[in-house]
Formats: sequence, C-alpha cells, structure tokens
Amino acid sequence: MTGRPPGRGRGAAPGDEVYEPAEDSRLLLAAALEEVTPEDRVLEIGCGSGIISRALLPRARRVVATDVNPAALGSLRGTGVDAVRADLFSGIRQRFDLILFNPPYLPTGEEEVLEGWLNFAFDGGETGRETICRFLEGLKDHLEPAGGRALLLLSSLCGPGEVEAKARAEGLAVEVVLRERYFFEELLVMRLNPAESFGE
Ligand SMILES: C[S@@+](CC[C@H](N)C(=O)[O-])C[C@H]1O[C@@H](n2cnc3c(N)ncnc32)[C@H](O)[C@@H]1O
Repeated sequence: MTGRPPGRGRGAAPGDEVYEPAEDSRLLLAAALEEVTPEDRVLEIGCGSGIISRALLPRARRVVATDVNPAALGSLRGTGVDAVRADLFSGIRQRFDLILFNPPYLPTGEEEVLEGWLNFAFDGGETGRETICRFLEGLKDHLEPAGGRALLLLSSLCGPGEVEAKARAEGLAVEVVLRERYFFEELLVMRLNPAESFGE
C-alpha cells in the first residue's frame, strides 16, 4: 500500500501526475485483448500511461485515446495512437466498434480529494459512480449500432449492481466477462452493447 492513496490500492507513487498501471489496468487489458479484432476502430477513454492503447494498436484498425489529464497524453506522442484531450466524449463526433474505460471508481468524500491531475484517476464522487454514470449516458451515441461494444472496468467498491441498472436504463445489454478477487475488493470487466443488437 506504500505510496498509494490510503486504503485505495490503485496505482500511484508520490509525485506522480499520471496513473501508474495496476491490477485494474491489467484486467481491462486482458479482456480487451480477447475482444479486439483487426477491423475494430477503438476508443480508449482515460488512457493514463497509454498501456492499453499501445497494446491494442497493432491489433486494431485504428486506436484513439483520450484523457482529461494533459500529462497523460504525452506518453502516446509518436506511437501511432491518436491522442486527444477530452472530458469523456466531449468533442468526439465519430462512432467506434470498441470503447474501453478504466474509470475513477473510488467513493471519495471532500476531505479525500487529492491535489492535482492525479485526482481524476481515483475520484468517483460520493458513490464512486459519478464519472461512470456520465460515461454510460454518452456511450450509446458513440458505439456503432451494429457490432459496437464497450468494456468497462468496475470494482465492488462502486456498486456494480447500480452500474448495471444504469446501463440497462441507457438501453445497453450487459454481461460480466472477467472478474478477479483481491484482498480489499473484487474487480470486474463489464461488456456493454446497444440492447437492440441483441433483439432486446
Ligand atoms: C484509473 S486511471 C486508468 C488509466 C489507464 N487507462 C490504465 O488503465 O492504467 C483513470 C484515467 O481516466 C482519466 N479520467 C478521469 N476522468 C475522466 C474524464 N471525465 N474524461 C477523460 N478521462 C478521464 C484519468 O485522468 C485517468 O488517467
């Protein structure tokens, strides 16, 4: 736990401005490698160090990576990944075949907010679901209606049942494709796609 925000177990060392890849990054990457096809146009929201986007680049038609943290985008310069500074989907007009997000999911009170950009890697608001819910509200409009799907990393700390209910309310079909238990939480990867493509 040394060097991480107390009780959080997510990747950060003192002085870091960008999220250091951790168990959650690796779980989402494993699910993404199973999911991606060479025809896919991929969008990764919240790319951080770029570990996931860089690994997918040789396996996809195109990879666009965004982050709200300007320090995160530098690591992708010259890699072939199209890096864009954006708050979730703002300014993004295209649709994608595969969208990925390892979001800030920790329930965070006012007294727990970190100084600087790194806070965006952790702070999920009071419930842990603030950014996740905004993501779900914009997701369907950015997925290809036929064949589009998303992989969303979640923790038991942010109420996956509530996230699933919100996703269904947004017209998305939901399934859990990967889960892993750790000492203090369970991580899971939720696969989402427009419900009508399942005939629901
Ligand atoms: C937990 S880190 C994950 C980083 C990287 N994808 C990984 O798996 O290692 C979450 C990332 O999402 C970014 N982020 C948080 N809120 C965002 C938002 N509203 N729009 C875009 N990126 C956001 C953070 O800056 C951070 O880089």
